[in-house]
Amino acid sequence: MDSPINKFKVWWQESKVDSPLKQKSAVCVSTIDEHGFPSGRFVDLKAVSEEGFVFCSYFDSAKGKHISHNPKSAMTFWWDHVGYQVRVIGHSQEISELEADSYWVTRTRSAQLTTTAFDQSAPLESEAFLDTRLNEALLQFGDQSVPRPKNWGGYIVKPVSIEFLTFRESRLHLRELYENSDGCWNKQLLQP
Ligand SMILES: Cc1cc2nc3c(=O)[nH]c(=O)nc-3n(C[C@H](O)[C@H](O)[C@H](O)COP(=O)(O)O)c2cc1C
Repeated sequence: MDSPINKFKVWWQESKVDSPLKQKSAVCVSTIDEHGFPSGRFVDLKAVSEEGFVFCSYFDSAKGKHISHNPKSAMTFWWDHVGYQVRVIGHSQEISELEADSYWVTRTRSAQLTTTAFDQSAPLESEAFLDTRLNEALLQFGDQSVPRPKNWGGYIVKPVSIEFLTFRESRLHLRELYENSDGCWNKQLLQP
């Protein structure tokens, strides 16, 4: 059985061609909160391999806390211009510090400063505090390089199932479900 990861790579590549989106790799990541509620938000997909799907974030954000209590996660992609939906279910785990460093250096300095300046998901006392905190970070680092904060890194969602849906105006969507069992992928079609 062909790996669905190869199919995903083809679709992801296709989705970037003539994409009307500014954030071409945005994906909704869902986690489970402490009350058992699902919680979704968009992040940027950084990479995909046979190991899984990588995104970057803060470990102590709401999503980071959810994952540390319950690694069960989902990712949902929708690329309207090509009519593709992809749903991934899997387990999230932190990537290595070395890998996190490699993503950190690809960030612009301004993104590095912003990341360093804030505690993602913590309450914000006022909008004005955004500038105050950013200016403090600017002063703190001056011309020096900005090191990766220890609470920022990446997660890899290790897939247990991946469903590809090809949207059809007729509603006869083609749904291809791949499920992983003991390291092997099995495929079956689902009714639309
Ligand atoms: C298009 C888009 C891309 C985003 N990319 C990221 C990202 O890669 N990492 C991240 O932590 N937050 C990203 N965000 C912000 C998240 O949606 C979210 O607000 C933030 O991660 C806090 O979520 P949490 O409080 O559930 O942890 C992005 C938002 C949008 C709209």
